Amino acid sequence: MQPLGSAEQPLKKIPIDVEGACGHNLAMVEIGKMRVAVVTGAGRGLGAAIAKKLAQQSIRVICVSRSKNCEKIATEIIAAGGAAESMAVDVSDGEAVKLACEKLLEKQGTVDILVNNAGITRDALVLRMGGEDWEDVIRTNLSSCFHWTKHLLRGMTQNRWGRIVNISSVVGKTGNFGQANYAAAKAGMIGFTKSVAKEVASRGICVNAIAPGFIESDMTAALSEKITEEMKKLIPMKRMGNPEDIANAVSFLCSEGAGYITGEVLTVDGGMTM
Ligand SMILES: NC(=O)c1ccc[n+]([C@@H]2O[C@H](COP(=O)([O-])OP(=O)(O)OC[C@H]3O[C@@H](n4cnc5c(N)ncnc54)[C@H](OP(=O)(O)O)[C@@H]3O)[C@@H](O)[C@H]2O)c1
Repeated sequence: MQPLGSAEQPLKKIPIDVEGACGHNLAMVEIGKMRVAVVTGAGRGLGAAIAKKLAQQSIRVICVSRSKNCEKIATEIIAAGGAAESMAVDVSDGEAVKLACEKLLEKQGTVDILVNNAGITRDALVLRMGGEDWEDVIRTNLSSCFHWTKHLLRGMTQNRWGRIVNISSVVGKTGNFGQANYAAAKAGMIGFTKSVAKEVASRGICVNAIAPGFIESDMTAALSEKITEEMKKLIPMKRMGNPEDIANAVSFLCSEGAGYITGEVLTVDGGMTM
């Protein structure tokens, strides 16, 4: 784990009822006090778009990724007038996540919003899948949600306000050829989401999952053009989603206005699995 990145700026005083680009109310309680969000996997793709979108909603964003990519995203957020910091943490390492959370809480007080987005694929038919490919995917995609949630939840319960959004996948609902490890992790995230939602609902904390479909990112860029074209044919909207499509949904679920939505799985897939 590396220390908090250099991409920091002091808290700003911001008016209470600024409207976000999506039109929903901003997650802000009082003048001068910004909500703080942790977004894992914020170095690229969906996580970077989510971090930028939350920052536009006047939320201070802690960008987490495995490499230093998160530092670049935090710098971009600050250049655009937002508040951000970066932390390089291997989310598959429970002890590293614990240390990162301790450091964060010491510095920030409470984290109000957690977006568990970091994820990997290690595709193979189950008969050929190595144990390591199974373990890596479960640890990175699923166990990480447990560790971040466990260490950041207490502050939310004390504040009687919190938002947790877990980025699952449509394959967590449907299964997928060659993705037994990934689908199991993504399905596990849905069960985890609903269980935690029940445990903390009375504390004003909403816990939801998003199930993205086929979204443009490095993860899907690895697929051949032929597969990509075949996939598009299965999508009623006839296009891949873009990271902003997911960021908009996350932003809504993190807003004040989503305070009566919990334990839900919001599918964002252009109609692919309806
Ligand atoms: N793209 C899709 O079509 C799609 C569909 C459904 C669900 N999803 C889910 O959406 C999430 C984001 O996907 P994406 O397409 O944006 O993926 P991506 O472009 O491959 O980016 C993954 C991000 O996760 C980070 N990450 C991976 N392993 C990590 C680890 N051990 N510790 C810390 N950070 C780690 C990466 O860090 P570095 O930048 O440092 O490498 C990167 O920032 C994933 O959970 C994925 O399963 C994606």
